[in-house]
Amino acid sequence: MPVVSLREITAETVRAICDLAPHEVQSGFVASNAVSIAQAHFNPAAVFRAVYAGDEPVGFIMWRPENDGVSCFLWRFMIDGRHQGKGYGREAIALWLKRLPALGYRLARTSYVPGAAGPHGFYLGQGFKDTGEQRANGERVMELLL
Ligand SMILES: CC(C)(COP(=O)(O)OP(=O)(O)OC[C@H]1O[C@@H](n2cnc3c(N)ncnc32)[C@H](O)[C@@H]1OP(=O)(O)O)[C@@H](O)C(=O)NCCC(=O)NCCS
Repeated sequence: MPVVSLREITAETVRAICDLAPHEVQSGFVASNAVSIAQAHFNPAAVFRAVYAGDEPVGFIMWRPENDGVSCFLWRFMIDGRHQGKGYGREAIALWLKRLPALGYRLARTSYVPGAAGPHGFYLGQGFKDTGEQRANGERVMELLL
C-alpha cells in the first residue's frame, strides 16, 4: 500500500482536492470539499488537510476544537469513491488520532448522518463509540477516548 499522509492544500493542489468526491450514493453523508474549504475560511480554528496515498490526492479531512478544551471534532472526512476500500480511510484517521494527544486533546468526536452506505460502521471499526446524542440536524454523535 502507498504511504498515506495528510498534507496542506496549496494554490497548486486545491483544484484537484475539490474534484475528489465520494460515490454518488454517499453524497448526502458529507459536504463537497469545495464547501468545506470555504467554511474553513470562516472558522479560524478549523484545520483541513488533503489525504494522499503516495503522491496522489485521495481524500479530505477537516477538524476543529470543541469548546470544552479537550475534545477535537472531526468535522469532515471523505475518501474519493475511486480510492475507497483500500485502507486509506483507516490510515488517515489513525494519522489524525495519533497527533491529537500532543495537541492537548483527550477526546475525538464526530457526528454522522445515519443511513445505508453511511460511515457508522467505518467509525465503529476505528474505535469510536455511540454517545446516544443526536443533533438538531439529525446527526448522531460518536466519540473515542484518546
Ligand atoms: C467512510 C469512508 C471515509 C471510508 O473510507 P475507505 O478508505 O473506503 O475505508 P477503508 O478502506 O480504510 O476501510 C477500513 C475498514 O472500514 C470498513 N468500512 C469502510 N466503509 C465502511 C462503511 N461505510 N460501513 C462499514 N464498514 C466500512 C472497511 O470494510 C474496512 O474494514 P476492515 O478493517 O475490516 O478491513 C469512505 O467510505 C467515504 O468517504 N464515505 C463517504 C463520505 C462519508 O461518509 N464521510 C464521513 C462523514 S461523517
